[in-house]
Amino acid sequence: MSALEPLLEFLSIPSVSTDPTHKEDVRKAALWLAERLKERGFYTELHETSLHPILYAERLLDEGAPTVLVYGHYDVQPPDPLELWESPPFSPTLRDGRVYARGASDDKGQLWAHVAALEGLSARVNVKFLVEGEEEIGSPNLLPFVRAHREKLRADVVLISDGAMFAPHTPTLTYGLRGLCYLEVRLKGARRDLHSGAFGGVAPNPIQALGWILARLKDEETGRVLIPGFYDRVRPVSEEERRLWPPLDEALLKGELGVEALPGEEGYTPLERLWARPTLDPNGIWGGYQGEGSKTVIPAEAGMKLSMRLVPDQDPEEVASQVEAYLREICPPGYTLEVLRLHGGKPVLTDPHSPPMRLMAEALEEVWGRPPVYAREGGTIPVVAELQEVLGAPIVLLGLGLPDDNLHAPNEKFDLVNLEKGIAVLRRFYGLLAGAR
Ligand code: BES
Ligand code: MN
Ligand code: MN
Repeated sequence: MSALEPLLEFLSIPSVSTDPTHKEDVRKAALWLAERLKERGFYTELHETSLHPILYAERLLDEGAPTVLVYGHYDVQPPDPLELWESPPFSPTLRDGRVYARGASDDKGQLWAHVAALEGLSARVNVKFLVEGEEEIGSPNLLPFVRAHREKLRADVVLISDGAMFAPHTPTLTYGLRGLCYLEVRLKGARRDLHSGAFGGVAPNPIQALGWILARLKDEETGRVLIPGFYDRVRPVSEEERRLWPPLDEALLKGELGVEALPGEEGYTPLERLWARPTLDPNGIWGGYQGEGSKTVIPAEAGMKLSMRLVPDQDPEEVASQVEAYLREICPPGYTLEVLRLHGGKPVLTDPHSPPMRLMAEALEEVWGRPPVYAREGGTIPVVAELQEVLGAPIVLLGLGLPDDNLHAPNEKFDLVNLEKGIAVLRRFYGLLAGAR
């Protein structure tokens, strides 16, 4: 397929946004994409930021035609652990009708479908692209950029292709994303590491204290988060919305995860816990001796990374403050607590029945031969809430990936069927949109 070759080039650029040694590669990916858009008749602007550049591009045909703003990201997650990849992460490899590479599904493959769909498109539509290199680190520079350029970005539809289909061969329209509040918690005891015999019995132990704290964050019986106010702004799911939801195959999910149960908050179905309930999960924990054998030591410091997935109408800053206040309240005496706010993102709900969503549903049904299912997503795309707030245009979240694409993990892949069908869906969508005027 002719759309494939350039994608392989795109995927071979190691644009890891969080790693300073790849700063030039991130830039290279932006420039590469700008060239491909120029070849397709776009005017492009590379906006420098304090970290990675933002690419804006437009192809405006006529004032009367509808305008679509496409969002995607050209940065990727780090590829490690490298030894678990069957082929190197930045040497894209085809196996069984899939392309394997870091970024294949998240988000270069999906973004590329949007570029490829424009090849020889006859539909009269104005297209703008907003592509960033900082999504995987929380979009720090894109959020202010959107506020500062609302006129430039103005569109009738905002199209976001960075997500997943509900299941294979199941065309999916996404109308919700969870938000994120991510904290690092550090706990300090004595001024230095101590001999556990010479000082054990009088020394504070930050690992122990961290354990006490952690145990008080969530109720073991009910799975409820114990932070005061945490659930105050959670919007309940209406019966009407629940009727939209596809059935979740719990046995399949358990099989995929290799687990016998799906633990979580009591009183809610697994699907509701994935889509419409907030979570709190430690994502990392450290302290003391981790090397081979034993070392008798009471460490001076311990810490953890805490991630909270949020749902409408929770606010990341407000939740961070609630968590911090609670941590200070339960922190035992004799320890110093430090809380760092690493990043966040607001949750999003869009109108599943907006006019462009209806057109996309029609395009999906024509191409896949079956109507789409309506889904929310558990993951976060920080800029979407900002685009919704600032531009006020209807949002269409069209995920082309699959749940087993190994996002952020070894052997990330993208199914070529999804690339091909994705391109066809987008072309059909543009045709319907142009005709709807
Ligand atoms: N594309 C993902 C978000 C996503 C994952 C959407 C799965 C739908 C299904 C995005 O690139 C991502 O990884 N986001 C981060 C955001 C964070 C770094 C601020 C996330 O959700 O952890
Ligand atoms: Mn993504
Ligand atoms: Mn990602």
